[in-house]
Amino acid sequence: MGELKDLIAELPKAELHLHLEGSLEPEMMFELAKRNGVTLKYGSVEEIRAAYDFSNLQDFLDLYYQGMGVLLKEQDFYDLTSAYLSKATADNVRHVEVFFDPQAHMERGVSFETVLIGITRALEDGHIRHGITNKLIMCFLRHLSEEEAFALLEVATPHLAKIDGVGLDSSELGHPPSKFERVFKEAKALGLKLVAHAGEEGPPEYVWEALNLLKIDRIDHGNAAARDDELIDHLIETGMTLTMCPLSNQRLCVTPDLTENPLAHLLRSGVRVTVNSDDPSYFGGYVNDNYTAIADALDLSMPEIVMLARNSFIGSFLSDVDKEAALDQIDAVFEQHRH
Ligand code: ADE
Ligand code: ZN
Repeated sequence: MGELKDLIAELPKAELHLHLEGSLEPEMMFELAKRNGVTLKYGSVEEIRAAYDFSNLQDFLDLYYQGMGVLLKEQDFYDLTSAYLSKATADNVRHVEVFFDPQAHMERGVSFETVLIGITRALEDGHIRHGITNKLIMCFLRHLSEEEAFALLEVATPHLAKIDGVGLDSSELGHPPSKFERVFKEAKALGLKLVAHAGEEGPPEYVWEALNLLKIDRIDHGNAAARDDELIDHLIETGMTLTMCPLSNQRLCVTPDLTENPLAHLLRSGVRVTVNSDDPSYFGGYVNDNYTAIADALDLSMPEIVMLARNSFIGSFLSDVDKEAALDQIDAVFEQHRH
C-alpha cells in the first residue's frame, strides 16, 4: 500500500465534485461564528465532529445547511474557498471544478454577489498563489421549486462571465431531474455546462432522466448505474464521466461497506469514473484520502489508479490542450513508479 499511496500523492489530479460549503471544517465554523456573532449549537470542535454520524443523505443535509449559517460576509466565502484550495494543493490537485449553493445563502439574507465575489476572488488568488486552475458550477437545490431555480438563473445572468456551469444537488429522492428540464434547457442556451447529481440515493431512472431530459455533460455520483447494464453500455458509448465519491457513499450509507462500492465494477466495465471528495469536512477525507481508501478496499492496481487520475482531466471542462498537458504529466509520474 505504501507504494500506491506514494503514487496517489504524486499524481496530478483534478477534483470535479466538491461542494465548497462541504469543505467548511469545524475549526473554521467556530472561528466564523465568533467573528460574525453567530451562536452555534455545539460547545467544541469535538462535539461538532461527533454529530457527523449520518444514516442517509437528508441526515447530512440538515447539518450541512445548519453549518453554513456562519457564512455571512464576502470574506467568509473567500476564507472558505482559500482553505479548500490549500488542502487541494497539498493533495497535488492541479485543477478544481467546484460547486456552490447560492440559494442556501440567499434564503439567509446573504446576497448572490457577496457569495460569488468572495468565492471567485479566492479562486483567482488560488490560481496565482498555487497555480491551481478552476471552473465554478452553480447548483440549483432540487428540494426547491422550478420557479425558484429560474429566479436564481435570472439573478446569476449578469455574472455569467464568472460561472462555467450549473448543477443540481440536495435531496434526491422525490425530486427527479425532470422537475428541472426547462431550467437546464435555458442554462444550456446561455452557454453553461450542465451537470447533475443522479443515482446517489435515487434509482437508475434518475440517471436516464438526467441524461435524456437535462442533457447533462457529466453525472455526479451515478452509483445506481451499476444496477442497469443497458445504462452502463450507454455511458460507455457516449464517453460519459461519473464523479464518484467513495467516502461520501460510506458516510451517507449509500454503500456503507467500501468493498461493495460500485466504482470498481463501473471502472472495469469501461465507464469513465473519477474519484472526488464531495463534502470532505463532513466525510473525513479530501481527494487523496478518497483515492487511498478506495484503492485499498477495492484492491485497485497501479494502472487503475493512473486511469482514475487521467479520467479526472479527460472528464473536466478544461481545453483539449490543457488536458493533454496534464495527461503527459501523469504519464511521466507513472513511468517513474514503474521502474
Ligand atoms: N449537497 C452537498 N453534498 C451533497 C450530496 N452528496 N448529494 C446531494 N446534495 C449535496
Ligand atoms: Zn455532491
